[in-house]
Amino acid sequence: MGNPSTRAATVRQDDHVNDRDPASQASRLPVPAPDPAAMREQYRAEGLDESELAGHPMKQFERWFRQAAAEGAVFEPNAMVVSTADASGRTSSRTVLMKAYDERGFVFYTNYGSRKARDLAENPYVSLLFPWHAIARQVIVSGTARRTGRDETAAYFRTRPHGSQLGAWASEQSSVIRSRAQLDVVYEELHTRYPEGEQVPVPPHWGGFRVAPRTVEFWQGRENRLHDRLRYVAEPDGSWRVERLSP
Ligand SMILES: Cc1cc2nc3c(=O)[nH]c(=O)nc-3n(C[C@H](O)[C@H](O)[C@H](O)COP(=O)(O)O)c2cc1C
Repeated sequence: MGNPSTRAATVRQDDHVNDRDPASQASRLPVPAPDPAAMREQYRAEGLDESELAGHPMKQFERWFRQAAAEGAVFEPNAMVVSTADASGRTSSRTVLMKAYDERGFVFYTNYGSRKARDLAENPYVSLLFPWHAIARQVIVSGTARRTGRDETAAYFRTRPHGSQLGAWASEQSSVIRSRAQLDVVYEELHTRYPEGEQVPVPPHWGGFRVAPRTVEFWQGRENRLHDRLRYVAEPDGSWRVERLSP
C-alpha cells in the first residue's frame, strides 16, 4: 500500500513532463483507465470485537484516530466527508477537515454562507464519514450540527496561517464567480490592507460547526467481505448502546 503523500507528489511530477524526452512523450500516450470492477483488495483479518470497545464512542474514536495518524498510516486522517440535506431533502457531500473532537462531538470550520451551512441552517441533521481506506477502516457518524460559539471560533481562527485567514475573507464560498482572476484580485487587496504581521479580524460569515453524534459506526474491513460493523447508539438517558450490523 503506497503512501498517499508520495502518490500525490508523483502526480505533480507527471504534470511537468519534459516534452523533448521521448520517454516522457511515451508516458503521455493514452493509458487505458483501470477497470474498477476488477479492482479487489483483500482486507485484514484482524477484527473488531465488542469486548475491546471503549464505553464512549468518542473515546473509541480517539483510539482509532491515533492509529490512523500513527506513522502516516492515513494521509490527512482528519479529512472527513460531510453530508447535509436541505429542507426539501436534497443531499450534498464534501470533504472538510475536522479540527477538534471531544465528548461533545466533532468540530469543523467553514463559511456560514456556503451551501453546507445554508443546508444546516434549514436542517441540522448531518452525516460525517472518515474514509480511512489505507487501513481498511471507516467511521460513520450521524448527528446534529450547531454553530460553535464566537470565542471558540476566534481562538481557532488565530491559529490559522495569515494567508488562510485572508482566504476566509476573500472567498464567498459556494457562490458562482466570474474568473480565478476575480478571486486573486480580492486576495491581493486584502493582503495590502492586512500585510503579514497585521492582525486579521475574524470574518463574521465564517466559523465552526460542532456535530453532536447520535450514532457512531466503527467499520473494520475483514476477509471475504465479512467485515465488522459496531455501532454506538445514544440512549435518552445519555448512555450508549452498541449493536452489531451485518456487513
Ligand atoms: C482535503 C480537503 C479539505 C477541505 N477542508 C475544508 C474545510 O475544513 N472547510 C471548508 O469549508 N471547506 C473545506 N474543503 C473544501 C470543501 O470540500 C468544499 O469545496 C467547500 O467547503 C464548499 O462546499 P459547499 O459548497 O458544499 O458548502 C476541503 C476540501 C478538501 C478536498
